[in-house]
Amino acid sequence: MDITKFIPLWIIYLSDMKFFIDTANLDQIREAHDLGVLDGVTTNPSLMAKEGIKGTENQYKHYVEICNIVNGDVSAEVISTDYDGMVREGEELAALNEHIVVKLPCTADGIRAVKYFAGKGIRTNCTLVFSIGQALLAAKAGATYVSPFVGRLDDISEDGTGLIRDIVEMYNYYGYNTMVLAASIRHTRHIIDCLKAGADVATCPLAAIKGLLNHPLTDSGLARFLEDYHRVNG
Ligand code: E4P
Repeated sequence: MDITKFIPLWIIYLSDMKFFIDTANLDQIREAHDLGVLDGVTTNPSLMAKEGIKGTENQYKHYVEICNIVNGDVSAEVISTDYDGMVREGEELAALNEHIVVKLPCTADGIRAVKYFAGKGIRTNCTLVFSIGQALLAAKAGATYVSPFVGRLDDISEDGTGLIRDIVEMYNYYGYNTMVLAASIRHTRHIIDCLKAGADVATCPLAAIKGLLNHPLTDSGLARFLEDYHRVNG
């Protein structure tokens, strides 16, 4: 029996899709925040390097600056690849600010670390996920977010948004609370496809978020409204 028939739609679709920005650039984070629709930020070591931030102390300061701009979750990724190092680093990162989510790679040590942090009530983002099996392990370990990389799968002719759809269906079927955070979003179309696939969050470059605004009928419609106003009002 399909029980969803007896549940009002407003209960099923109560949570909205969240937008994170995928950058460590403070100006871009501020611009997305000022748009009024930003729910969080994801970073990774490549994005931090792109901003030229060197050394642990500077990196930690940078994470705090990001947290001071955004009133939402900020993923900060560990560099360690062994369990003990991940736990030590993750605890340092989590202590920086209440908004920090510890980002851990989907490896055996990473999954163990996710489990450890779940036990301590520290939120995690299990990253570098490319298969439904990896997403299952992340959820079983208690990850807060799982990050399947849509664009990188598309790059090798696989179906990135298809993976998002499969993971959403699997989590719903088994009742996992882990949120599906669609990552490696390259353009606006990816955002639309991920929301249709039921992703809880899309983390996107600023240009892809702003691309959602673009429609030629909005531009021509606004031009016509203003033209008509000025024709009558001078
Ligand atoms: C997000 O958490 C990922 O680090 C990021 O989206 C990767 O994106 P890329 O494939 O464009 O590098």
